[in-house]
Amino acid sequence: MKFFIDTANLDEIKEANDLGVLDGVTTNPSLMAKEAIIGQENILKHYRTICNIVNGPVSAEVIATTYKEMCSEGEKLADLHDNIVVKIPMTLDGIKAIKYFYDRGIRTNCTLIFSAGQALMAAKAGATYVSPFVGRLDDISADGMALIAEIRTVFDNYHFDTEILAASIRHPMHILECAKIGADVMTAPLKAMKQLAKHPLTDIGLEQFLADHAKGQKG
Ligand code: G3P
Repeated sequence: MKFFIDTANLDEIKEANDLGVLDGVTTNPSLMAKEAIIGQENILKHYRTICNIVNGPVSAEVIATTYKEMCSEGEKLADLHDNIVVKIPMTLDGIKAIKYFYDRGIRTNCTLIFSAGQALMAAKAGATYVSPFVGRLDDISADGMALIAEIRTVFDNYHFDTEILAASIRHPMHILECAKIGADVMTAPLKAMKQLAKHPLTDIGLEQFLADHAKGQKG
């Protein structure tokens, strides 16, 4: 399973990249706003900076909501860097835009997926990735992980090339469950990624090893 980081924060992207397990980055307009990246030029510059840090796909989301505007905005984003994947919301105009980009060899990530039917539509249109939002389904007492499993079944039935990019990941168990189901990619905040490496028994065991080593040195 590929690991993407879900942030527009450059320090976090660098830290995850330095860990050596990072395969890509996802952003969205809320994450960009959180970093106070304001104005079209600054936004484009920020995407270029991210692309120069991480050697992998970087999802950049369109703000446009109509087919024609999504196509022209997406083309500008794709022109920024080879790493850019154009992120398109799951709407009927979005589906048309995904097909437009597919026909031109431009990669897309269909975002805001909350049902397997939506994922099927996006895959039919030629999306490179679909982004089902696990945490936001859990938030409304639905089963986010069941959606990942359902999409896995549908895509496997028909050998779609579209990759399942599990998004809205909130904690390490989400990451592990995605891996067990067979999501192709998961995108998580840095905190959840780092928590995956933690176990209290590891900390206790290491402390004991070092204490025993120190005792042995004294003797
Ligand atoms: O990639 C989509 C993701 O950023 C949404 O996460 O935590 O806002 O539901 P969250």
